[in-house]
Amino acid sequence: MFPNKVTIKEVGPRDGLQNEKTIITVDDKVSWINMLSETGLSYIEVTSFVNPKWIPALADCFEVATRIEKKPGVTYAALVPNQKGLEKALQADIDEISIFMSASESHNLKNINKSIQETYPVLNGVVKDALAAEKSVRGYLSTVFGCPYEGEINIDQVIEVTEKLFEMGVSELSLGDTIGVATPRQVQLFLEQFLKRFPKEKIALHFHDTRGTALANIFASLEMGMTVFDSSLGGLGGCPYAPGASGNVATDDVNYMLKKMGIETNIEDEKLLDAAQFIETCLNKRLMSHSMLINRSKC
Ligand code: HMG
Ligand code: MG
Repeated sequence: MFPNKVTIKEVGPRDGLQNEKTIITVDDKVSWINMLSETGLSYIEVTSFVNPKWIPALADCFEVATRIEKKPGVTYAALVPNQKGLEKALQADIDEISIFMSASESHNLKNINKSIQETYPVLNGVVKDALAAEKSVRGYLSTVFGCPYEGEINIDQVIEVTEKLFEMGVSELSLGDTIGVATPRQVQLFLEQFLKRFPKEKIALHFHDTRGTALANIFASLEMGMTVFDSSLGGLGGCPYAPGASGNVATDDVNYMLKKMGIETNIEDEKLLDAAQFIETCLNKRLMSHSMLINRSKC
């Protein structure tokens, strides 16, 4: 009924840090990513090549991406919004390019300053050039389960944008619950329809935990045969252009749940917690994942 193995894609260094007020030094980011590389994670999204005026916390994208120690077997990805970002990401020799847009018009406009129609040619060019440079491309689709400006999003709208992104050549699409409004039954009803159109092997899920439903949503997705989930260590994260968006589901909590369910992740708990403690110290704030709360109460 459940998969034997699941891939957890760590988005903490990007989604986790992009909304933080505390600016972490390049040295600390590099040390943190190097620690994450030792945990058994096979995929780490390390930064964003976006306009630093929009996302100041990741203004050091090039330095971070070029200074990390790349461990064989780990894919290092970064967010890219346009040709300018792609150029820098290719110079930094990022393994995988992640493009992103929203299923809702208003969030797309707030987040990347373009309508959905205006976004297609930009991303099409990015994908074409990334593939020509022999990089794989992942897509993100935000506000799939609800938009901070428009509320519920019609599944036909999600399907329409998804078709365009696959036509461009993305190898995987991550469906974002950007503001953490999804609930398990909603996720299942959505996937029942969506998976009639797209193969589940090419779909990942990206749950934010704003209302505490993210682990339940992952459970509901597992029941539907889904095997790729994005998460952020300690539950860091949020989109600055989605009011109310809080952290991603915590990698440490997802890993705990999956392992206890007998689902292999290949990630070592202790190393994960060491990395969580490290970034907690750098940020000088308490991470709110359940694993970290328990870990702290043991001290
Ligand atoms: P724009 O202002 O429309 O861009 O921004 P533009 O092409 O008109 O250029 C304006 C200025 O930006 C120029 O500089 C460009 O050089 C510069 P100026 O001449 O004024 O000095 N610029 C750039 N600089 C560095 N890198 C670049 C770049 N592009 C232009 N790549 C843009 C358009 C998309 C760039 C902007 O809106 C932007 O950076 N947005 C990023 C927003 C963002 O990162 N949001 C968070 C990530 S998405 C998310 O969190 C959701 C996700 O997690 C999934 C989920 O949870 O649902 C993925
Ligand atoms: Mg996100």
